[in-house]
Amino acid sequence: MRRISLAAVGLLLGITVAFADGQKEPEPQTWSWNGVFGHFDPVQLQRGYQVYKEVCSACHSMRLMAFRNLGDPGGPGFSEAQVKALAATVQVADLDDKGEPTTRPGIAADRFPSPFPNEKAARAANGGALPPDLTVITEAREGGADYVHALLLGYSDPPADMKGKMMPGMNYNPYFLNGQIAMPAPLSTDGQVTYAEGQPAATKAQMAKDVVAFLSWAAEPKMQERKTMGIKVIAFLFVLSLLLYAAYKQLWRDVDH
Ligand code: HEC
Repeated sequence: MRRISLAAVGLLLGITVAFADGQKEPEPQTWSWNGVFGHFDPVQLQRGYQVYKEVCSACHSMRLMAFRNLGDPGGPGFSEAQVKALAATVQVADLDDKGEPTTRPGIAADRFPSPFPNEKAARAANGGALPPDLTVITEAREGGADYVHALLLGYSDPPADMKGKMMPGMNYNPYFLNGQIAMPAPLSTDGQVTYAEGQPAATKAQMAKDVVAFLSWAAEPKMQERKTMGIKVIAFLFVLSLLLYAAYKQLWRDVDH
């Protein structure tokens, strides 16, 4: 008992500590995929992929994602032809017939290419900081989607008490630990990407929502299946209990009990 309550206290403290120390707590957002009946909006995921590709992929890898995943059920819903076309826009590393390194246009089975060949190169290009892989980032960070969303839109000039404390090359962001982050504001202007005709305007707020949606799907691509299965199981159990009750009534109909 004592151990359990200690663990509970630890858990509580852990959660508080995660956002303490001047780190601002992210504001909860309404996401389409929250709740039992929540689901990802394929068109939003397509916009989010565009933001990742055109902005974030300059620094961040998504090593677990293959282009063909972009056509999987419950995801952005690109057609097979679209997936092929998207894959063909990137150059991937391969070996030629003589075993020499070369590059070729991507195919659907290829993983997303990484912007840097290794960690050292990634750090060297980012002032010593490592841009983390984004495949499961919404699962890996306290606050999940809300945190990444707040972080993307949270940049501002440092307040007076932080001005003297800023390290060279760092950017003020109160949602990040200690308020200083090596990543410069990645979404800095409205219209930074151009969305297809008929889509909402690519404001900073819209781009942030869309890319977070995409990252949330990438972190849990089977969410839709899981929820649908859960609903089916509950419906099945409900029908089963009705049948059992009817059978019970029927069997004991003429028996005094
Ligand atoms: C110019 C390079 C660059 C671009 C472009 C960029 N990032 Fe980053 N990002 C970084 C670096 C560097 C870090 C590590 C920051 C640190 O540790 O101080 C980082 C960290 C992060 C983190 C992790 C924060 C944490 O809690 O550790 C997230 C999430 C993130 N970036 C999301 C994005 C998204 C989404 C985009 C596109 C909209 C993007 N980044 C574009 C360089 C970049």
